[in-house]
Amino acid sequence: MNQQRKRVLSGIQPSGTLHLGNYFGMMKPAVELQDGNECFYFIADYHALTQLPDPALLRQRSRGVAVDFLACGLDPLRTTFFRQSDVPEVHELTWVLNCMTPVGLLERCHSYKDKVARGIEANHGLFSYPVLMAADILIYGSHLVPVGKDQKQHLEVTRDIAVRFNNRYGEILVVPEALIREDVAVVPGLDGQKMSKSYDNTIEIFAAGKAARSRIMKIVTDSTPLEDPKDPEACNVFALYRLMATEAEREALAQRYRAGNMGYGHAKQALAEKYEEFFGPMRERRRELLEHPDLVEDILRTGAARARAAARETLNRVRAAVGLDG
Ligand code: ADP
Ligand code: TRP
Repeated sequence: MNQQRKRVLSGIQPSGTLHLGNYFGMMKPAVELQDGNECFYFIADYHALTQLPDPALLRQRSRGVAVDFLACGLDPLRTTFFRQSDVPEVHELTWVLNCMTPVGLLERCHSYKDKVARGIEANHGLFSYPVLMAADILIYGSHLVPVGKDQKQHLEVTRDIAVRFNNRYGEILVVPEALIREDVAVVPGLDGQKMSKSYDNTIEIFAAGKAARSRIMKIVTDSTPLEDPKDPEACNVFALYRLMATEAEREALAQRYRAGNMGYGHAKQALAEKYEEFFGPMRERRRELLEHPDLVEDILRTGAARARAAARETLNRVRAAVGLDG
């Protein structure tokens, strides 16, 4: 049985307060993958440094995302959970990989070009970001890497580098597969566009009752009169409700839409209640974790020790293969 378990690896950047898009697009699928797989999840703080020059903020966000991930259901007994910067071995592999990565491969990366176009400083860390990401993945011998569509090209770069390495030095590295979350719908924001912190259209997952409610009341709806039937499939409120509700609850609300005499205010009310039911217990878990920072540190330290041991193994084989073991 054990042999069939895949090693799943993913990194999350500590980029601020989590919203419904992050939860349903990233956290929830990652938590579900813990069943039946051997997961390695880490906080990508080295990567965050490419764009975050404020040490206090980097520290605070890294701790914050650790607490958030645990509150969302990451189980540290089953999953190796760690901070990227607690495994400095990854840089040694990055260097070796740098030495076989064509500059042209990195120049073609959209993510770099997009960031620079948005005015982010074109530092070398930002440029070589995909090589560090390749090292993250390859150092743990990962089979599957769940990522959003925006990271697809980075996974192609990783595979390209791994194949180059193996062609030159023998079959040392596992060539990973991307697990692109095509099946996870894009979660709409208050205005119906993709929910994103860049569009200021988010609903946070850990907002307390009143704050969440006031965001929910701001969801844009059309002007169908209260008494008319409404199409649930065309409504942003329903699109969010369906993510949290059971099938029976979903069907019941859809029928109320179609029957008429239900205003969007009622639907928002139903969504606010569902939100509370769904995220209330996680918020409570998060509150408890925030009161026990030592426990969170302990979890990350234990994870880092496990991750380092796995990283060392790959690195020893790589050093021997390339001739750095003299
Ligand atoms: P943001 O757009 O708010 O800056 P990020 O780009 O930091 O969010 O996304 C972090 C993770 O959350 C990624 O894996 C991304 O695919 C996922 N994600 C973000 N927004 C959404 C959304 N609206 N729907 C589905 N997944 C999303
Ligand atoms: N670049 C990823 C993001 O911004 C984060 C990340 C870093 C990552 N290293 C990784 C994801 C390795 C998967 C595997 O979302």
